Amino acid sequence: MCGIIGYCGPRRAAPLLIEGLRRMEYRGYDSAGICLGAPGGLALIKTAGKVKALAEKVPADLEGNCGIGHTRWATHGLVNEQNAHPHTDIQKRFALVHNGIIENYLSLKQELQAEGFVFQSETDSEVLVALLTGLYRGDLEKAVKEALGRVEGTYGLACLCIDEPGLIVGARNGSPLVVGIGDGEMFLASDYNAMIAHTRQVVYCEDGEVITLTASGFRTTDLANRRIEKSIDHIDGTGAEAEKAGFPTFMEKEICEQPESVDRAMRGRLSRETGSAVLGGLNMSARELRSVGRIRILSAGTSYYAALAACYMIESLARIPSTAELASEVRYANPLVEPDTLFFVISQSGETADTLFALRELKRKGARVLGVCNVVGSTIAREADGGIYIHAGPEIAVASTKAFTSTLTAFLLFALSMARSRDLSLKAGLALIDELSAVPGKIQSLLDRRQDLDLLAQKYLWAGNFLYLGRGINYPLALEGALKLKEISYIHAEGTSSAEMKHGPIALINESFPTVMILPQDSLRGKNISNLKEIKARQGKVIALATAGDEEISSLADDVFFIPPAEELLNPLLAAVPLQLFAYYLARRLGRNVDQPRNLAKSVTVE
Ligand code: G6P
Repeated sequence: MCGIIGYCGPRRAAPLLIEGLRRMEYRGYDSAGICLGAPGGLALIKTAGKVKALAEKVPADLEGNCGIGHTRWATHGLVNEQNAHPHTDIQKRFALVHNGIIENYLSLKQELQAEGFVFQSETDSEVLVALLTGLYRGDLEKAVKEALGRVEGTYGLACLCIDEPGLIVGARNGSPLVVGIGDGEMFLASDYNAMIAHTRQVVYCEDGEVITLTASGFRTTDLANRRIEKSIDHIDGTGAEAEKAGFPTFMEKEICEQPESVDRAMRGRLSRETGSAVLGGLNMSARELRSVGRIRILSAGTSYYAALAACYMIESLARIPSTAELASEVRYANPLVEPDTLFFVISQSGETADTLFALRELKRKGARVLGVCNVVGSTIAREADGGIYIHAGPEIAVASTKAFTSTLTAFLLFALSMARSRDLSLKAGLALIDELSAVPGKIQSLLDRRQDLDLLAQKYLWAGNFLYLGRGINYPLALEGALKLKEISYIHAEGTSSAEMKHGPIALINESFPTVMILPQDSLRGKNISNLKEIKARQGKVIALATAGDEEISSLADDVFFIPPAEELLNPLLAAVPLQLFAYYLARRLGRNVDQPRNLAKSVTVE
């Protein structure tokens, strides 16, 4: 949610800032801007629209070796050039980029206006610039600390002052910030991907820290001016994973990577010797795991739907009562922390504010909270007591796909290990390992038939609404299928349990309101077929995802896409893929920007 980048060094800053913003555009993409300490003063260039539009506006010969940049996801104020960051004062002495929300900005703004400060935007962020102008006495770091002492809310920020060329001051409270240490140059960004082409040496900033950066180094202090020693982390990867690799979109690439990403989530973690899974990152002894009496999983968006499915897996395999909850709700519900409850938070990005703040609230109450994250070194991954990395590789498209199936895989492994330490037999454990090992190949076989889903999408291009139905462990899949469709195609879709349809959604059904039914050959097949017939009796069209060989479904549904047979708990790993592809092809055929759908952001670091 908003990308921030800063650079100090010997090179021209502008192209480096633009490149960094491009790599962070998934965080927000409604407007962008940069500001550099150039020879004649601060050079400010902003635009509504994407980073590409900004790049076109930036002169190729723009001088300046120290600068800041921003790509925005609007919170306060319309999407336009004025509200784009960086923000400066009228005299252009200070420039600032901000990610987060200043909650007391209205009262501060009124106060600062009364003192004569002229605001140029509708943003909450601009009050920080106004505070700096009033507090600055020749020391930007000091002024930033004083200004932050007056604001309530969350921030990741970076700022410059014309009187202190070559210096950037950054600060973090609730929104990520990472320092990159280059060779004679320094970076500051909200995501290390922004600088991965230039350095692998990074330092993660924590809440309450202020970073003062020049080309030759950085120092970290707290708001009370105490020095903080930081350790340097090394980032793996080349950044090449974040390229499209010949695919027309990141989303298609990421959908097609799933045979490999699911395999990576399992690699080195399955033991045929014990018929179990080995998850070293949980940081819990066998005895501690054995004494878990309840599991609660908190998350948001697609990760929440993964959590719902995970509960089925854990309850059914390990027989431990499990619930999935929205992190945003738990945080403010004064959550009960019982001694035998193990909490999980799921977050692909590891930065989602709702999930992070719920984690902190639980930890404050003494809960043990494990994280299931994709981004290594992300805030949630670092603050959790332990967890499982899903190792899906960078997910750039805003709509989550491979992270979803990798998270499901991680929870299958967790459920297996918990079950094996309880009453699942070695034989049953080994059978599940065999089934799991076959999943990547089965996903590949689905991808090989993806043109059929494109044809299906073409056939249903006329539809303005869709209902998605599933039951049991496929109920969360119905929710996820509907979410994928609305996120990227803007077609209204709602998901529910097949059984719940008769309690309301059936009122929507007619010949122009098609239903996507996840209808594998499982223990609930008969019930699902009854629901399918109820839809047909009302002239509703049905697209079914059925198990290969289940020919009866072909005679009942209008269209069928077959998925390979699998053990019931593994069905979601297979059903997810055609649901993603159906949404993808519909959106593409409607001409949507599937990688950067309107109004959304990949990583939502505000509440
Ligand atoms: C945003 C994204 C969703 C994502 C959700 C949770 O809303 O647009 O695709 O599922 O955040 O993200 P997380 O990184 O916490 O899994």
